[in-house]
Amino acid sequence: MRNIPNIDKLAGVLEIFLENHSRTNQAKDTRYWYPLSIATYDVQEILQALDSLCSFRTTMWEKTLEFERRYSAYQGCSHSVMVNSGSSADLLACHLLANPVAPILQPGDEILVPVVTWPTQIWSAMMAGLKVRLVDVSPRTLNVDVEELERAITPATKAIFLVHLMGNPCDMGAITALAQKHNLVIIEDCCEALGAEFKGVKVGNFGVAGTFSFFFAHHLVTMEGGMIVCQTEQHARDLKILRAHGWVRNVDGQEGKEELAQRGIDPRYAFYNWGFNVRPTDVQAGFGLCQLEKIEAFNQQRNKLAGQFFEFIDTQKWLSRPEVHPDAAPCWFALPLMVAKEAPFTRSDITRHLELAGVETRPVVAGNIARHPVSEVFPAFKERAFPGADEIHERGFYIGLSPLYTEAEISRLISVFTAFLSPS
Ligand SMILES: Cc1ncc(COP(=O)(O)O)c(C=O)c1O
Repeated sequence: MRNIPNIDKLAGVLEIFLENHSRTNQAKDTRYWYPLSIATYDVQEILQALDSLCSFRTTMWEKTLEFERRYSAYQGCSHSVMVNSGSSADLLACHLLANPVAPILQPGDEILVPVVTWPTQIWSAMMAGLKVRLVDVSPRTLNVDVEELERAITPATKAIFLVHLMGNPCDMGAITALAQKHNLVIIEDCCEALGAEFKGVKVGNFGVAGTFSFFFAHHLVTMEGGMIVCQTEQHARDLKILRAHGWVRNVDGQEGKEELAQRGIDPRYAFYNWGFNVRPTDVQAGFGLCQLEKIEAFNQQRNKLAGQFFEFIDTQKWLSRPEVHPDAAPCWFALPLMVAKEAPFTRSDITRHLELAGVETRPVVAGNIARHPVSEVFPAFKERAFPGADEIHERGFYIGLSPLYTEAEISRLISVFTAFLSPS
């Protein structure tokens, strides 16, 4: 960080500021002692941001390239393309499949998408001109039900857009076999699953592209931000063109310079496809570089704390946590739970207790999207029933999980649950 004078003094001041303001301040600002998320950035990330500001290199620049390179090394993929959010990553992944210049699929081709997910996953496929066929999920795993997936395949089906919800990997053995059998392209939404693996392979590496979110509460945080990983240079090139206006400027080895000259085109403004502007800033990438150094420790702590909490849940009659496939190694995003159908209390009863006790709760993302007001304009959402999603919609909820939480805090969380489940 060569651009900040007296960096040691500044680092010292920031350390004192953060010591006094981080956890305590967040607790004072909210009624929750156990909020969904707490900021995981510290002095290094702030200095990186200041470094970009002081060098006047705030837009996508060298730090983005460096973060993309290091992310690929961590992920074990051939290329990574950073964008400004996980939703933008989903949008580009779908447009990688369907775009006018280098299409893998055709407009109107069918894509299977789980009905319980973050809605931008569904919108992305629709906005790319693909026909979304929603598929029911299992309330036991929160993930797509493989039998339902097979039942949903029609002659028009050409792709599957998976999501590994809450950091719990889908059954990639069965799904890749199904995709091969029916000649389907796979893309993966890993926005909640950075670091999760199936048979030792990181999720995101099973198909044409994998997407990640770096929003607050996610495994790695760049404030807003996201990443698409892919396995070929051509796809990385196509994604970079889609990321920025359809131009070729951010692509290595711009070919065809002579042809451009003949057309009277300046290579800096040469458009090869349609596109968006979903570029990240170098300020975000600087955050990413710092966070990537901590990711192994963060993820270990996430799984350790989740293990402590789920051990308690496994002794409970009326609550359950997601089942994990024997070949899967989850990397928990949060602590999702299902209230048993026969329980003597409702989901609202328990979430009200938790909220009053200072524990923030949320439903399992959108629940059944076909029950949301927006579905009125999409009749295809209503074509079939989604009983698995309905169960999650009615009886599922989650609480946060931060790598900055401690075992003592999880013990306190358990005592809040115990006070509700087994009052003395
Ligand atoms: C499964 C899933 N997909 C996509 C997204 C979108 O990511 P972002 O909020 O960065 O746009 C999220 C966000 O939480 C998510 O959980």
